[in-house]
Amino acid sequence: LRQLSLDGKGPSPAVSPTGRRSYTLEQINDLRKHMASAKPKDAITYLPWRRRGDKLQTIAVANFKGGSAKTTTSIYLAQHLALQGYRVLAVDLDPQASLSSMLGVQPEFDLEEGDTLYGAIRYDDKRRPLKDIIRKTYFAGLDLVPGNLELMEFEHETPTALMERKTTNSEIFFRRVGVALAEVEAEYDIVVIDCPPQLGYLTLGAVCAATSLLITIHPQMVDVASMSQFLLMTADLLSVVRKAGGDLNHDFIRYVITRH
Ligand SMILES: Nc1ncnc2c1ncn2[C@@H]1O[C@H](COP(=O)(O)OP(=O)(O)O)[C@@H](O)[C@H]1O
Ligand SMILES: [Mg+2]
Repeated sequence: LRQLSLDGKGPSPAVSPTGRRSYTLEQINDLRKHMASAKPKDAITYLPWRRRGDKLQTIAVANFKGGSAKTTTSIYLAQHLALQGYRVLAVDLDPQASLSSMLGVQPEFDLEEGDTLYGAIRYDDKRRPLKDIIRKTYFAGLDLVPGNLELMEFEHETPTALMERKTTNSEIFFRRVGVALAEVEAEYDIVVIDCPPQLGYLTLGAVCAATSLLITIHPQMVDVASMSQFLLMTADLLSVVRKAGGDLNHDFIRYVITRH
């Protein structure tokens, strides 16, 4: 790194009076690109972006219990992956929008109608492209689809949409999150979805869009019991979704034990 910086190649770090160089995360990401193009054979060790044939990995963090550390897990996972050099999209699917607040978006003040994922999955003609909804965050390499109370509309409108479906060609509810994410797939390596604490249409959409699941769980009797209910209900609902043609292959399903 020192030689690179002395040769004037790559980003210019801040240099302290004692000669210590420090790089911002943006500069580290520039360095990754620089090294990957200077040493194409070792590119993967510098720049872990997915290669041709690698699919987008979409991780849904779910459990129907509030306070089981879904949001905490989502944000640290997303930030960790961004620090590793991946291009990460965090999706806040919880109307309570804690993930958005943590990533610097005030859900009550900073958002207009259609600025959440709802804008990209709604059934009417106000639907917008997801790329117009995504925001950069203060964290390099980590973009956000914010959430707020507007997401609840999807839970209310889906039953009507299901009834009217015979007369319209609109995509069925459990495919809409995945279809929206597919629009921006080329820009990202990993999507992390923070699910709401209930097994509604949004959560089902996320589980269907996901290539893997993280289920957060407190190691306490009552919580474990409620989680097994969640899993039973999910299995029931998913078998209905599967019959309707939903894609439910997951690369992994992991339980994350959280305690505090
Ligand atoms: N590993 C941890 N250690 C200590 N406190 C934690 C940990 N994970 C989460 N918490 C705290 O637990 C509470 C609930 O976490 P949160 O992620 O908001 O849960 P959820 O999104 O499932 O409702 C928060 O106050 C959070 O700060
Ligand atoms: Mg939460």
